[in-house]
Amino acid sequence: MHDRAVPATMPDAGRQREKVLAAAHALNRNARPGNDQGFRVVVTGKGGVGKTTVTALLTHLFARSGYTALAVDEDPQMNLPFALGMPQDGGGGIVPLTKNLDYIEEKTGARPGAGWGLMLTLNPDVSDVVDRFGVTGPGGVKILVMGTVVQAATGCLCPENTLLEAVIRYINLRKGEVILMDTQAGVEHFGRSLAKGFGQALLVTDPSFNAVTVVKHAAVLARELGIPHLHLVVNRVRSGRDREKVLKILCDDIGLFSEQFWLPYEEGMNECDPGVLPLLSCTPPPPILEELARIRDTLEKYGTR
Ligand SMILES: Nc1ncnc2c1ncn2[C@@H]1O[C@H](COP(=O)(O)OP(=O)(O)OP(=O)(O)O)[C@@H](O)[C@H]1O
Ligand SMILES: [Mg+2]
Repeated sequence: MHDRAVPATMPDAGRQREKVLAAAHALNRNARPGNDQGFRVVVTGKGGVGKTTVTALLTHLFARSGYTALAVDEDPQMNLPFALGMPQDGGGGIVPLTKNLDYIEEKTGARPGAGWGLMLTLNPDVSDVVDRFGVTGPGGVKILVMGTVVQAATGCLCPENTLLEAVIRYINLRKGEVILMDTQAGVEHFGRSLAKGFGQALLVTDPSFNAVTVVKHAAVLARELGIPHLHLVVNRVRSGRDREKVLKILCDDIGLFSEQFWLPYEEGMNECDPGVLPLLSCTPPPPILEELARIRDTLEKYGTR
């Protein structure tokens, strides 16, 4: 199949969607070869439970232990760059991928309208993809923001989702490289082919009944979608009673999870909102970091299985 040139006469929105699709098709054709050695983790859960916070802290922890860590923001609200410590006035020049296609074509020398084949090399590693589509943030973390990813009831064939799947598939992860993807609330918008890109999911909840119920549902769905390892992350835990409550709600479904983690409520979080960097440089380190380091080590362990 050839790259599709986008007709100049189309209305703007239609042209934009055509461009997104053209880029997705081109990336898919150049998808990674089979010797992928890093690992990919998707972070999901109900709104407000701490997905972005957990993704940002883990991305930094991986970067600090020598990994090339790529944080992908799938949430249209695009909070992740700020959580990672990017400047709040303009986000350090981040332009969401779905809004960036003209610029990328220009930067890579592909003639606008002529298609995407020219810009794709045979070396689609993280740095290559970040050079083309993303930015490097504080602590060397790599950041890729997707922009609008339309929510649909049962997976979505919209161009933006197709592009996201293609980008995730396209990157050829080497040893010592990890992708962590922060998502919008819920997993309903997750298509099977997007889920296929991930070897592990962190299902984040707080101790509230509604959030635990969402995570229970999400675990069943993630299992159906074929994500091999699901880990439970209970955030903002204040007491043993919280723990008992969560386990009671999950009941037998606790068996869906390979591992479980309990992150304490962290008083200092509010002060550093929206960034997580101050938390990482606190002395002594806050207790939440110890459990997050355990998550990092577990992801590493399962990731290379
Ligand atoms: N362990 C914690 N202790 C105290 N506050 C926390 C903790 N984890 C997260 N928070 C706070 O909870 C709020 C929501 O966190 P966050 O934005 O990470 O959630 P989210 O799941 O990404 O939300 P959304 O669904 O809106 O994207 C933030 O103000 C954050 O600082
Ligand atoms: Mg978020």
